Amino acid sequence: MAVSNLKFPISSPRLPPTLQAGLIHLLAWALVLGLASGAQQIELDLNWRGLTLMQGLLAGSVSYFFALPAWWLVINLLFFPLLAQAQQWELAPHWYLAGLAALLLTQLGAVRNRVPLYLSSHRAKSELLRLLPTSPGLRFLDIGSGTGGLLAFLAKNRPDLVLNGIESAPALWLLSRLRLGTRASIALGDLWHVDLSRYDVVYAFLSPEPMPRLWQKAKREMPPGSLFVSNTFEVPGVKPDASIELHDLHRGRLLLWRMA
Ligand SMILES: C[S@@+](CC[C@H](N)C(=O)[O-])C[C@H]1O[C@@H](n2cnc3c(N)ncnc32)[C@H](O)[C@@H]1O
Repeated sequence: MAVSNLKFPISSPRLPPTLQAGLIHLLAWALVLGLASGAQQIELDLNWRGLTLMQGLLAGSVSYFFALPAWWLVINLLFFPLLAQAQQWELAPHWYLAGLAALLLTQLGAVRNRVPLYLSSHRAKSELLRLLPTSPGLRFLDIGSGTGGLLAFLAKNRPDLVLNGIESAPALWLLSRLRLGTRASIALGDLWHVDLSRYDVVYAFLSPEPMPRLWQKAKREMPPGSLFVSNTFEVPGVKPDASIELHDLHRGRLLLWRMA
């Protein structure tokens, strides 16, 4: 079998990529440290950078074989080698603090709701655009609108749409506000407090975690005939009315439900 085919299609719908990535790091460290102490040839202090390089290579390869999304592959490959490099640069502590603050401001959703930031691919946006009903003035909501990329794409290609977003991470909210100006109304807040009854189309690209509760909310609030679209993440036990393979880096699908 060609090496390129050696992938396990097990991007588990239960384990979010963040957790999979963390487990892969632990596994890679266990292997590298086991190897180092077993051979008893590598002095941990002296070869710290070499060990982090090995760890990065292992973590990157395992991420590839386990079919994690491409950006996780890059993160897992580079995380510890870059950390080791940063130690060499002897960065002042406030840079680490600034990094942590930036992470919190952009990844608040991941900390609070187990929904990290990753962006809809171009294919996802194009397919969504293709399948949106053509009736003018459609009210569209992106729940967890991130950097506003999807809304910006729709603003450009469907000037008639009434565009809305809700985002819980302050830095992302600010960025999307600046990006879209008055073209979209983007609120800073929690998606669970948004009334979905005002929208014809609700788009979610979140994670497996909130899907069961979100489906209950959508069923309760969305008007008959409206469209609920989830990028990639299923509603357990509820078959979508349509499913479109995206063949993108996320190996995603658009799942569509026409609300009753
Ligand atoms: C995977 S990103 C999707 C970004 C964008 N919708 C897109 O498709 O490109 C999910 C976003 O949801 C946000 N989020 C997570 N939980 C949220 C919540 N409870 N309320 C509002 N936004 C939330 C995260 O901060 C993140 O920006």
